[in-house]
Amino acid sequence: MDIEIIIDGKKIKADSNSTILEVARKNDIEIPTLCYLKGINEPASCRVCVVEVEGARNLVTACTTKIRPDMVVKTNTTKVIKARKTALELLLSNHNKNCLNCPKNLKCDFQKLVEQFHCDTEKYAGATTENHIDDTNHAIVRDMSKCILCGKCVSVCAKLQGCSAITKINRGFETKVGSDFDKCMQESSCIGCGQCVLVCPTGALTQKNDIPKVLDILEKTDVIRIAQVAPSVRVAIGEEFGGKIGEFAEGKMVTALKEIGFDYVFDVNMGADFTIVEEAQELIEHLKTNSKYPLFTSCCPGWFNYVQKNYPDMEKYLSSSKSPNEMLASIIKYYFEEQGKKVEIVSVMPCTGKKREVFAHGVIDACITTRELGELIRLKGINFNKLADSKFDDPFGEYTGGALIFGVTGGVTEAALRYAVHKLTGKKRNIIEDVRNSKGVKEVEVDLGGRTIRLAIVHGLANAQRVIEDIIAGEKHYDFVEVMACPGGCVNGGGQPYVDYNKISATEVAKKRAATIYKADGDMKFKEAGENKGVAKVYSELFKGDHELIHKLLHYVHVDYDRVEESKDN
Ligand code: SF4
Ligand code: SF4
Ligand code: SF4
Ligand code: FES
Repeated sequence: MDIEIIIDGKKIKADSNSTILEVARKNDIEIPTLCYLKGINEPASCRVCVVEVEGARNLVTACTTKIRPDMVVKTNTTKVIKARKTALELLLSNHNKNCLNCPKNLKCDFQKLVEQFHCDTEKYAGATTENHIDDTNHAIVRDMSKCILCGKCVSVCAKLQGCSAITKINRGFETKVGSDFDKCMQESSCIGCGQCVLVCPTGALTQKNDIPKVLDILEKTDVIRIAQVAPSVRVAIGEEFGGKIGEFAEGKMVTALKEIGFDYVFDVNMGADFTIVEEAQELIEHLKTNSKYPLFTSCCPGWFNYVQKNYPDMEKYLSSSKSPNEMLASIIKYYFEEQGKKVEIVSVMPCTGKKREVFAHGVIDACITTRELGELIRLKGINFNKLADSKFDDPFGEYTGGALIFGVTGGVTEAALRYAVHKLTGKKRNIIEDVRNSKGVKEVEVDLGGRTIRLAIVHGLANAQRVIEDIIAGEKHYDFVEVMACPGGCVNGGGQPYVDYNKISATEVAKKRAATIYKADGDMKFKEAGENKGVAKVYSELFKGDHELIHKLLHYVHVDYDRVEESKDN
């Protein structure tokens, strides 16, 4: 039911079930927030969203206060501004204010508000939490001297990812965000997805910085320097330079990588076509076994590591096909080494978890995220928006639509089905809409060469946990299960550009980036891995049908994401 309220003198009709904040945002009235993440984290603890409500004795938090008929709200009075300023100054009292050394400098929500409200950074100066940086994990870095205890990371990790790798530990002034028994991140149940990094309003959680490694590689003159780029990076890198969310910037991105100094820029999409050829074959073989368990995808390192940590007995049901990133790198290294040339490879990923995958496999030399690519482009003084378009290099730059859609939840399944249907029936089925738009868990039955197979497409590890428990309990049966750790898939990966979630939800962001991918897939002539002539050429001319070699390069035996000793030296 709609009711009428007044905000800042403006009459507004809104659903009576709304909060003041929801109504304000819908009507372009700005109210700052720090601890609020709709539906996921609403503790009303930071108090920077306070507003005046006529008749109320105290200021109220806009993020949790429901509207009432004829409510009169004031969002920008002197009293409100002073209260917000005090709330921020209290948070600053236990905050390491060395902003110039902080990886979130100029991208920090907290810093922006401190500046906006002209805060006195030393107003409540006193004892502060010890500055302890935990960089044991290859994906993310934790610096609790920057934490304002908003709780967003804890909620995202528990509610979306079902990992509960981090939680609030200790009490009172000693309270901090840490893992159980205060273990280091590499020893915790963290799978490196980086979803906590996306929502952290400060520099307390950031990605591991691998730019120095890349700069070192670029300086080398005795190796061929190669960059390889994942599907979802091209629909997000433009955002680093003011572009619209989901803008397709493949051509500029390739040019930028060449200007940065890479000798070759190859496309991980080609690796995705290889992964599909191998994984679809695995699926066809798996179906013959009539197993109680499905074949699970394994290309998402977050999911892979989640299974290793939580369901080690199920690891054998993960596809042994390497991820597109690892497959392509293995092929590239073999291709050049056969010619007596040494290469070093940098992969550019939408994913913080890929940093752990790269470390675990040991083939790729450095891994940076989309955000780090943005930083590198700026560091090199390249004007991204003025760049002309370039194409990926031969011989590893060719791809089909099936590879591109790997970036979206349901994409791996659709690509595998396109290939398997063609292989088994000789008929093409280029768009398989049923597996798209997955809402957490999507169950689908598909006819595959006269046999009905049951599929589940899952994103968000909390959803994956429910699915795997049902499978183990015998309550559900599937032939194939695709899992992507990040909600929406890699388009919404933990290494993608920061977005202001006060203006747009993560779900909407993922949808926009996914729409661009599907549009590009629709425009492509070839949509199925079997149509990739470059892939066929590698199988025939480079591998020459050598099955042992193919298995060695394209499949893995065992990888350990949780090794600790080496990670500490990284
Ligand atoms: S990276 Fe993912 S698993 Fe690790 S703490 Fe953050 S949200 Fe949790
Ligand atoms: S680490 Fe970041 S997201 Fe987590 S509680 Fe601290 S400030 Fe909030
Ligand atoms: S869904 Fe994609 S971005 Fe997220 S952890 Fe998995 S591979 Fe990385
Ligand atoms: S109290 Fe409302 S955003 Fe923190």
